[in-house]
Amino acid sequence: MKENIIRHTYEVSKSQRQKLLNQNSLLLWFTGLSGSGKSTIANALEHKLYQEGFKTYALDGDNIRKGINNDLAFSPEDRKENIRRIAEVANLMVDAGVIVLAAFVSPYKKDRENIARIVGNDNFVEIFVNTSLEECEKRDVKGLYKKARAGEIKDFTGVNAPYEAPEAPDVEIITDGLSVEECVVRIYDKIKPKLKI
Ligand code: PPS
Repeated sequence: MKENIIRHTYEVSKSQRQKLLNQNSLLLWFTGLSGSGKSTIANALEHKLYQEGFKTYALDGDNIRKGINNDLAFSPEDRKENIRRIAEVANLMVDAGVIVLAAFVSPYKKDRENIARIVGNDNFVEIFVNTSLEECEKRDVKGLYKKARAGEIKDFTGVNAPYEAPEAPDVEIITDGLSVEECVVRIYDKIKPKLKI
């Protein structure tokens, strides 16, 4: 079946689309524990990029899991498929010329390596939102750590499922003691040279 699928070439290219938008498209991938601040920081960074005139789009864990990935749970296999589908969607958006911000726990190293393979290393920026488990659990904004500790959630990252921290992320933000604005400035300063054509 697969051998009968032949790619069609379109005349308008990715680089033409990027030129029109006056930006380099990228996938900014935020990984970290639940409650680490991924979505908050991604949201604030997107706002800054928008104000600077960049065309962006944010993909976020809870939203995606209510829509395109609503058939997936949190087993290692389901997480792998979750991340693979998101990476494919992000790849289309990057091809469209957009700067994509994606905030997902993405706890497995292999799955994150697969994202870089799908979108291409040059288009992929791995941002490790490094907030300690203790701090995430103290915040427990959604009450999920409490439930996981009580045995009401299985496969909960950091409690009864692993988080494989990135060893060499493009950007690492140790959030303890930093404001959201400070985190955003640190990321923005790192990615700035990559944004403009
Ligand atoms: S993953 O690992 O990348 O596939 O997870 P993701 O799609 O980012 O979804 C994480 C959000 O789902 C909620 N949630 C859980 N997280 C981790 N483990 C388990 N078992 C789990 N069950 C539900 C949680 O609210 C995560 O949201 P964030 O924003 O990260 O706190």
